[in-house]
Amino acid sequence: MLRERNFTGGNAIDNPWGTLSTYGMFIDNRAAEIANALHQQADAMDVGEKLPSVRELSRVYKASPVTITAAITSLTALGVVRAEPGRGTFVAGRDLAQEPDYAWQSSALGRSRVDPSRAGRIGSHGTGDHVQLSWGYLAPELQPFDELRTLGVRCAKSHRAWTMAPPSGLPELRRVFAADLGAEPEDMLIMPGGQQSLVFAMRTLADPGTTLITESPSYPGAILAAQAAGLNLAAVPADGDGIRPDKLAEALERTHAKLIYLQPCYANPTGAVLSPERRVEVLALAKRFGAFIIEDDWARHLALEGAAPAPLFTQDPDGHVVSIATLSKPAAPGLRVGALAARGPAGERLRRARIAEDMCVPALAQEIALGLLTSSAWPRHIKRLRTGLRDRRDAMVHQIHASLPGARVANVPTGGIHLWVKLAEGTDSTALTAAAQDAGVLIGDGKGYYLDEPPAPHIRLSFGAASIPDIEEGVRRVGSAGQYISPTGIRAASRLLGPGSGQAHASS
Ligand SMILES: Cc1ncc(COP(=O)(O)O)c(C=O)c1O
Repeated sequence: MLRERNFTGGNAIDNPWGTLSTYGMFIDNRAAEIANALHQQADAMDVGEKLPSVRELSRVYKASPVTITAAITSLTALGVVRAEPGRGTFVAGRDLAQEPDYAWQSSALGRSRVDPSRAGRIGSHGTGDHVQLSWGYLAPELQPFDELRTLGVRCAKSHRAWTMAPPSGLPELRRVFAADLGAEPEDMLIMPGGQQSLVFAMRTLADPGTTLITESPSYPGAILAAQAAGLNLAAVPADGDGIRPDKLAEALERTHAKLIYLQPCYANPTGAVLSPERRVEVLALAKRFGAFIIEDDWARHLALEGAAPAPLFTQDPDGHVVSIATLSKPAAPGLRVGALAARGPAGERLRRARIAEDMCVPALAQEIALGLLTSSAWPRHIKRLRTGLRDRRDAMVHQIHASLPGARVANVPTGGIHLWVKLAEGTDSTALTAAAQDAGVLIGDGKGYYLDEPPAPHIRLSFGAASIPDIEEGVRRVGSAGQYISPTGIRAASRLLGPGSGQAHASS
């Protein structure tokens, strides 16, 4: 069967460099016109038939050989014609464009480790038309864009930016991250962000088939990371003070897990901070059971009131805690720079294993991160962020009280970017999330933050990625959408509320 090809070729987009033709290349406007005409001509010819020579086409189209060659090259890239050196240009065989048969892959691939529905909910931005109350990063106006742009230009001019960085990262950058933790620079590994650090730590520190314990509810990306590492998962309940040590002890006893995933500081999604007493108990349990704790310290720079508690890493001299930091949250998600700290043989193993992954984090990104963290603009940015996020959080809490009757924010977080909203008993959070999306608002369905059935319906509303007017409007729309959700999840009339969309909602 022939795959449908675009033979119209006419939808060219003008831009300062020329024309982005439907042939997928930037060519000048005249070449695009000629490519369009040749495309139609080739379509009327037989497969294998020879096109006129470049000289002949130059004459016919009154264009230079360079322009004709550019037109032919763009058609070659599209598979319309085939150039044979020394012989000429021929209409390409249309059988090349046959529908591919991927059926064999289904049996070759085996079972997917990563739960595709959970993965589908992470990393999607929605469209520009959506109010974004689900995206776990900063709105562009909250990012240190001017500093990043200046540093980007400056760093790109240096040869250092284009050499291969050491696998563990630039020594100066390791030193900067180490200082936050009271660690030695040798304990540090520069990583391409938090998510990669999670998968890497899980894969390197545990054998497939063993168990990772996670507090619950928790970051869905950590669940995916454990799945990608081939680990089994066990959930231990957390409350406003973090993971419950009594339940953690039971789970360690039952599962013999050697890995525990925790967010002790402003946890995603609940905003909980692990209490001082529980920190001591959790570390004692790690010691008793000989387990590692992966400390996901993503929100360290996002304190909204008071100071963030010291990293758990600083309370552990014996190498139980492996701590992960990221600049994706306080700076920009596209920077892809973070750090992992680990002591003892585990640290050694992680540093050796790093080379097997991807050689190094690009030196350019590391240079930019180093410039950012050591500039006087960084503390100024963090201060500005604190105010910007606090105002957004307060506006969101206020609007939730005004627009979502029956919903409750049990813990107004003192840091981070998320609100964990408990819905009225019996509300179907999935139906509400879908109705909100139909109303043009992306929110996080609470079910995605649990391994199994949630104990109560929740949604996660994030205040970092939207402006205050958008937060107010978004929460209002969620409230209106919620009016049409009955306890059994039956939706009615919610499509009347706003722009519909088939996009998966983002949640990170
Ligand atoms: C708790 C938590 N950890 C880690 C990450 C991953 O961050 P990064 O963008 O640095 O990979 C996220 C992102 O949403 C997160 O919420």
